[in-house]
Amino acid sequence: MINIYSREDLQGMRRACLLAKSVLDYIEQYITPGISTGELDELCSEFMTNNGATSATLNYNGFPKSTCISVNHVICHGIPGKYRLKNGDIVNIDITVVIDGWFGDTSRTFQVGKITKQAEKLINVAKTALDKGIEAVKIGGYFREIGYTIQRYVESQGFNIVRDYCGHGIGRSFHEDPQVLHHAVAEFDAIIAPGMFFTIEPMVNEGTHRSKVLSDEWTVVTADKSLSAQFEHTLAVTHDGEVLVLTA
Ligand code: MF3
Ligand code: CO
Ligand code: CO
Repeated sequence: MINIYSREDLQGMRRACLLAKSVLDYIEQYITPGISTGELDELCSEFMTNNGATSATLNYNGFPKSTCISVNHVICHGIPGKYRLKNGDIVNIDITVVIDGWFGDTSRTFQVGKITKQAEKLINVAKTALDKGIEAVKIGGYFREIGYTIQRYVESQGFNIVRDYCGHGIGRSFHEDPQVLHHAVAEFDAIIAPGMFFTIEPMVNEGTHRSKVLSDEWTVVTADKSLSAQFEHTLAVTHDGEVLVLTA
């Protein structure tokens, strides 16, 4: 069942989403060769606390950290730790905060120092895939248009879209209906309507779309060890008929 939120609810979501975005703006300056993903997580955690927010990922189904940090061939759900970033890495930082019971979810992929042309293209395609997915959101339209648009674009660029993980409804809880798929499927047909809050978060792989989960039971990697990049925004469809990107 997809939750329909009220006009008043949008105010709470705006605050949570704006703070999630601010965490990414804040952490960018620290993304340099030599810093560990654990240190980046600590900095994000302090920033959240100082701004009256808590992390939604900490202890979520046993997830041990305040952020997800996914380097190179890690698709998503990377656990921050001892790994130190090095020149040429690409790193996704995924932030989900809770303020007053409202959840805001956003991620970006950053480059570490100088990266290859191919890695740069991958990041740009992932970013554009999100933008195109957002443009495909039409009130009265189908969620499947988002996936259709994203998959067609990503494949036209010679890359592949991950199928095993998707966007999601969000609001008073972290993961709500619907599942927002980033690939085309005929049968998925919920209609986009005012009062809905959801994420779009395409994961784009250089090689195969297939993924596997490491023995830590969280870290999702590409099956062929090729690079993966992701961007995520939380959106609101308002009762005034607008589509807002709350984490922009
Ligand atoms: N933030 C991720 C998402 O976009 C979910 C992370 S769940 C965690 O939905 F447990 F891995 F933190
Ligand atoms: Co999400
Ligand atoms: Co996220």
